[in-house]
Amino acid sequence: MASPAATLALLLLPLLASLVFAAAQSGQSPPPPQGSSTNTSDAAALHAVFKQWGLEDGNLPQGYHPCGKLVWNVTGFRNITFIPEELFNLTALVSLDLSNNNLSGPITPNIANLTKLEIWWMFDNNIDGEVPEFIADFTNLKDLRIYGMKLRGPIPNKFSNMTNLTYLMIGDLDGDNFPFDFIGDWANLSVLDLRSNNLTGPIKQVLQDNRRVQHLDVTYNPLLNGSLSNNFAGGSEEISLLNCLDMKECNQTVTNPVPFAVNCGGKEYTSDLLQTVFHDDSTDLRSAGFHIDSSNSWVVSHVGADPFSNSIGIVNTTKNISGTDMHDLYRTARTSTGSLWYYVVGLTSGRYTVQLFFAEIVIENESGRRLFNIDIQGRTFKTDFNIFEEARGFNKATNITLVENVTTSVLKIHLYWNGRGTCCIPRNGTYGPLISAIRVFPYTEAQGSPPPVRHTSRRDEKRRGVVAGIAALSIAAAVIFSSVVYLWWKWISLVKHPKA
Ligand SMILES: *[C@@H]1O[C@H](CO)[C@@H](O)[C@H](O)[C@H]1NC(C)=O
Ligand SMILES: *[C@@H]1O[C@H](CO)[C@@H](O)[C@H](O)[C@H]1NC(C)=O
Ligand SMILES: *[C@@H]1O[C@H](CO)[C@@H](O)[C@H](O)[C@H]1NC(C)=O
Ligand SMILES: *[C@@H]1O[C@H](CO)[C@@H](O)[C@H](O)[C@H]1NC(C)=O
Ligand SMILES: *[C@@H]1O[C@H](CO)[C@@H](O)[C@H](O)[C@H]1NC(C)=O
Ligand SMILES: *[C@@H]1O[C@H](CO)[C@@H](O)[C@H](O)[C@H]1NC(C)=O
Ligand SMILES: *[C@@H]1O[C@H](CO)[C@@H](O)[C@H](O)[C@H]1NC(C)=O
Ligand SMILES: *[C@@H]1O[C@H](CO)[C@@H](O)[C@H](O)[C@H]1NC(C)=O
Ligand SMILES: *[C@@H]1O[C@H](CO)[C@@H](O)[C@H](O)[C@H]1NC(C)=O
Ligand SMILES: *[C@@H]1O[C@H](CO)[C@@H](O)[C@H](O)[C@H]1NC(C)=O
Ligand SMILES: *[C@@H]1O[C@H](CO)[C@@H](O)[C@H](O)[C@H]1NC(C)=O
Ligand SMILES: *[C@@H]1O[C@H](CO)[C@@H](O)[C@H](O)[C@H]1NC(C)=O
Repeated sequence: MASPAATLALLLLPLLASLVFAAAQSGQSPPPPQGSSTNTSDAAALHAVFKQWGLEDGNLPQGYHPCGKLVWNVTGFRNITFIPEELFNLTALVSLDLSNNNLSGPITPNIANLTKLEIWWMFDNNIDGEVPEFIADFTNLKDLRIYGMKLRGPIPNKFSNMTNLTYLMIGDLDGDNFPFDFIGDWANLSVLDLRSNNLTGPIKQVLQDNRRVQHLDVTYNPLLNGSLSNNFAGGSEEISLLNCLDMKECNQTVTNPVPFAVNCGGKEYTSDLLQTVFHDDSTDLRSAGFHIDSSNSWVVSHVGADPFSNSIGIVNTTKNISGTDMHDLYRTARTSTGSLWYYVVGLTSGRYTVQLFFAEIVIENESGRRLFNIDIQGRTFKTDFNIFEEARGFNKATNITLVENVTTSVLKIHLYWNGRGTCCIPRNGTYGPLISAIRVFPYTEAQGSPPPVRHTSRRDEKRRGVVAGIAALSIAAAVIFSSVVYLWWKWISLVKHPKA
């Protein structure tokens, strides 16, 4: 029955108060003959659908041009509570956005009629019941987003058949015991978001192997175990790392020479003035990952939160930084749209001065506000910290200093986005923590005096266990037991209201 006119896209965007209704079929088939029009039964079905949704149907042309694109502007908030039967007659529909409505009850099996769907969004409704298996028959699906509802799992294994998937976002499923068998050989997959699904068991290897995935998020699945990084040696070592998750089992007799310092996002940097070597921290952590520096006993770990911005993780500038002579310390910085952890391992018990160095090198003026929180040893030290404000300007150095007691041999620094500030100035994904460098040295009453010169770096195989254990801990913290529970919702609201 496929007349060329029969490719339709139906997008309901109630919050934007507009309805996009496009009949474009670009490229793939030859242009339809001049004057052809929508299949009359499709047109009738559309009329019926719009009428029942209370849309003015006076605007619907009798036979609009199939290759044109028609935007219906709907006045007022659309609060869709049901899907008219006629929608299921539109078997050529390719794009359906039912997100942000008041649909309830189970997903109707009639949607199985819409076998041509390529994009289907249905997040944020009151829909319950199970994730239907028929979705797997939509083998053209490229973009499926189902979350923020009351659905139960499991995700059917048959989903592995949807080989064209590029975006898959399934979240907030109830139930238990979800194996990863639904993950297929999805050559085009770019975003895989499986937040808050009560996923259990080890993370399937395919997740780690898939090089094409730009964004992978399995946070808020507390029963999940395993790791997401290639840094792991794997095998029995991995198991012993996981056994070390409880810090008490880690070797605490190891000592990390102080002063300890890291040039976040940058290459090794030596400051003669401070008599400190800032370790190299230039490893690309992708959208979630960690790096272990076993010779210097520290770990960095990050998990991003925004799949639609190509957030880089490391930012740099060639400009001079005012208020310091150590330009290269501030010219690179590590950043994250979610959370960033630094763990300094093997500190002997005692009081330490912790110094955090910042310069805002991305947001040039006050129209953008980067706000993030800083926790040290699990306690919030700064809320909605704003580098630009603290330093009083762009490309200006600032530092904050605190004294911390270390008793468990590990110093834990956590910087994270708290859901506030601007998201997209000067470009998408410009939010979340940014840090230039960290320095830790023993606290002395006379704070002005330079700390002792550190010993030359020595390799100590025995330290590996400690550091690797913390890596397991950090990855668990970062990827699995994320502490910023409401970040997901903040993220959703940011996507929905980009100006929030
Ligand atoms: C939908 O299709 C059925 C048959 O498949 C037909 O009987 C019915 O009239 C159609 N409804 C509309 C509104 O086109
Ligand atoms: C719908 O509104 C947009 C801007 O809000 C406007 O550009 C467009 O022309 C309108 N379309 C119709 C069909 O009224
Ligand atoms: C949408 O409709 C539901 C059910 O009719 C109602 O409870 C809810 O208040 C409505 N929401 C808005 C924003 O109008
Ligand atoms: C399409 O949905 C209607 C109900 O709306 C159903 O009667 C019909 O059998 C379905 N057609 C197909 C091909 O699944
Ligand atoms: C995937 O998409 C291509 C074109 O985008 C299409 O030709 C192919 O049939 C699709 N694959 C499946 C399994 O449907
Ligand atoms: C995928 O589709 C094929 C053919 O349609 C079917 O034989 C196979 O069982 C499906 N795979 C799963 C996991 O259901
Ligand atoms: C998650 O799974 C566990 C067991 O695997 C189960 O006991 C629990 O009820 C599940 N939680 C939800 C919210 O379904
Ligand atoms: C802990 O490290 C120290 C010093 O490297 C070493 O002598 C000791 O054997 C280690 N203990 C364990 C249980 O590995
Ligand atoms: C600075 O960032 C740009 C863009 O991300 C990158 O291409 C370049 O290699 C970086 N330069 C240095 C010195 O890291
Ligand atoms: C830290 O900032 C203070 C000003 O607040 C400055 O005097 C000091 O030199 C800075 N320390 C370093 C190591 O840059
Ligand atoms: C750290 O320990 C000292 C004594 O050793 C104590 O006076 C101080 O209050 C402690 N500081 C914190 C932040 O717990
Ligand atoms: C920025 O994000 C908005 C919506 O989130 C999107 O429409 C726009 O294309 C994005 N811009 C870029 C350059 O990615």
